[in-house]
Amino acid sequence: MQDSETIDQIDDTPIGRAAQAAVQAMGRAGEGLPRPPATRVIVVANQKGGVGKTTSTVNMAASLAMHGLRVLVIDLDPQGNASTALGIDHHAEVPSIYDVLVEGKPLADVVQPVVDVEGLFCVPATIDLAGAEIELVSLVARESRLQRAIAAYEQPLDYILIDCPPSLGLLTVNALVAGQEVMIPIQCEYYALEGLGQLLRNVDLVRAHLNPTLHVSTILLTMYDARTRLASQVAEEVRNHFAAEVLRTAIPRSVRISEAPSYGQTVLTYDPGSTGALSYLEAARELALRAPGIEVPITAVEQAAAEALVAVGRHRHTIGAQAAPEAQHSTMEGNR
Ligand SMILES: Nc1ncnc2c1ncn2[C@@H]1O[C@H](COP(=O)(O)OP(=O)(O)OP(=O)(O)O)[C@@H](O)[C@H]1O
Ligand SMILES: [Mg+2]
Repeated sequence: MQDSETIDQIDDTPIGRAAQAAVQAMGRAGEGLPRPPATRVIVVANQKGGVGKTTSTVNMAASLAMHGLRVLVIDLDPQGNASTALGIDHHAEVPSIYDVLVEGKPLADVVQPVVDVEGLFCVPATIDLAGAEIELVSLVARESRLQRAIAAYEQPLDYILIDCPPSLGLLTVNALVAGQEVMIPIQCEYYALEGLGQLLRNVDLVRAHLNPTLHVSTILLTMYDARTRLASQVAEEVRNHFAAEVLRTAIPRSVRISEAPSYGQTVLTYDPGSTGALSYLEAARELALRAPGIEVPITAVEQAAAEALVAVGRHRHTIGAQAAPEAQHSTMEGNR
């Protein structure tokens, strides 16, 4: 992870400090963000594995909670990575999302508070969930069990973020039926866009038949490495095709982000001043300000801070880090 370490070292450079100062001047953590008029249920999906779904779910959720909002993460992946990252025990006996989906247990019985982050809650996933795809097939209303459980949950929440497994099976369908919005993390790598067309078609199918409110509201570029031409080519292509959906803030590749889960923490508590933490705070702020019914113009200081964050990445190139080999970028074939 030498590359990632180099990125984090930038935090100690003058430009890194300037970026942090700019971000802090904008009053990141601790400053309130607008509450959405109704709970926003956001499905974090991409059937491609390892693109940053879980990392983005937990860090966006923690960022929103640190801004004073009440946020629930639903771990819908049998791997239980989101539960791990939030420090939530998820061995086989722990009441989990499996009990909700398969046994019909109320969501309230399985929600756990996340230690260290006020206002953040988690529904864990245990390994039992691996069998749920098959067990759900024979159950009544198999596609809408999560949606029903969420509708019956009475605690006030501003956001629900659902971390999906890397597949388009019944678990992901349950999430798509339960949510209004889809957030797609896209890794800035070759092949990043392969399979995206299939995900978009599934979203269309669910919207047409099961959930008319569903739409792709947000695309988040992850593991962005500003030194490589490939990353900027992929980012540019995604921005061209999804101009309205892509967040201005891209999440850089950062060793701090990848280390945090092994301590049962998000990067926000593990290393709050790191570029990774600041990027997620900024991305979460953008997400919150894009809530339906909320119109907030971009201020000059916000623009300056966003540019400073990008400059941090660019600056690496000039301080001797070896440029990674460039490759042809992927195409949008098959996508919309
Ligand atoms: N910005 C980043 N910088 C460095 N490493 C990252 C970053 N984002 C994610 N990672 C690492 O990449 C790997 C995959 O990330 P993550 O688990 O979030 O992806 P995922 O899409 O949820 O994977 P899966 O499809 O298996 O559920 C993890 O090891 C994670 O720590
Ligand atoms: Mg995951």
